[in-house]
Amino acid sequence: MHRDATPRRYVMCPPVHFKVTYSINPWMDPTKPVDLPLALAQWEDLRDRYRALGHTVELLDPRPDLPDMVYAANGATVVDGKVLGARFAYPERAAEAEAHLDWFRTHGFTEIHEPAHINEGEGDFLVTASWILAGRGFRSSPLSHDEAQEFFGRPVIGLDLVDPRYYHLDTALAVLDGDEVMYYPGAFSPGSRAVLARLFPDAIIAEEADAAALGLNAVSDGRHVLLPQAAVGLFPRLRARGYEPIGMDLGELLKGGGSVKCCTLELREVREAASASASTAGATNAPAPCPVIRPE
Ligand code: ARG
Repeated sequence: MHRDATPRRYVMCPPVHFKVTYSINPWMDPTKPVDLPLALAQWEDLRDRYRALGHTVELLDPRPDLPDMVYAANGATVVDGKVLGARFAYPERAAEAEAHLDWFRTHGFTEIHEPAHINEGEGDFLVTASWILAGRGFRSSPLSHDEAQEFFGRPVIGLDLVDPRYYHLDTALAVLDGDEVMYYPGAFSPGSRAVLARLFPDAIIAEEADAAALGLNAVSDGRHVLLPQAAVGLFPRLRARGYEPIGMDLGELLKGGGSVKCCTLELREVREAASASASTAGATNAPAPCPVIRPE
């Protein structure tokens, strides 16, 4: 099956001040040294890879007092050009929310909602064509799910995370294209597993070893799937579906409990809403359909 990539716009934050000095997830061990130059080089590889694939990467200014800021996915959720700010569960990361909001305010985003309830951005909100999938159990409050549904006007499906290693939804599930996903069932409650099986009967079901390599912390542009290179079991499965897996080494950032997706916040502008309005007769100001990247 042929897969088309569409150009994306991402926000990333260089790990200039990255360190592991506290532990708010089981991956973080403050006694383990971090190689900062290596962390930077690995992060630059990811940024350069996105750009080489034709994507736009915007940069957020790193702050010395916020060592987890490299995990930019947690700072907001952007759908249809609307920005839902984050509110972090732990005080160590609280100030990241304002840094993200400032960025959006100065980059032309006007529909910005400062949340009442705890949500860790795209760590726990993942957008498919039909739904917003929303994790809860460790970080984001279930109340943030209603808040997101009301703000975005898209159906939000709450999913219960039960394994502390998979404390954010994006550590256990990745959106590949449209309503296609891959996930690790062991990260979810039995009821949430049943919901996922019902919504995504054709999903790629990840093995434990690939999930434990944080292989589900992946970013797809509809064709290329960038994921931790150690998740070797996922590569043939993705290829069999027509995707082109690209292995990345973000080993230093894994020490903070994150990988490819955690470092990447996607700016979804009006493009997705456009297909709905473009089909409405008389929609004259609908944006042009987005171009397709064909690497061959
Ligand atoms: N150390 C960070 C935390 O525990 C890692 C965040 C990873 N980000 C993500 N989108 N899963 O909050």
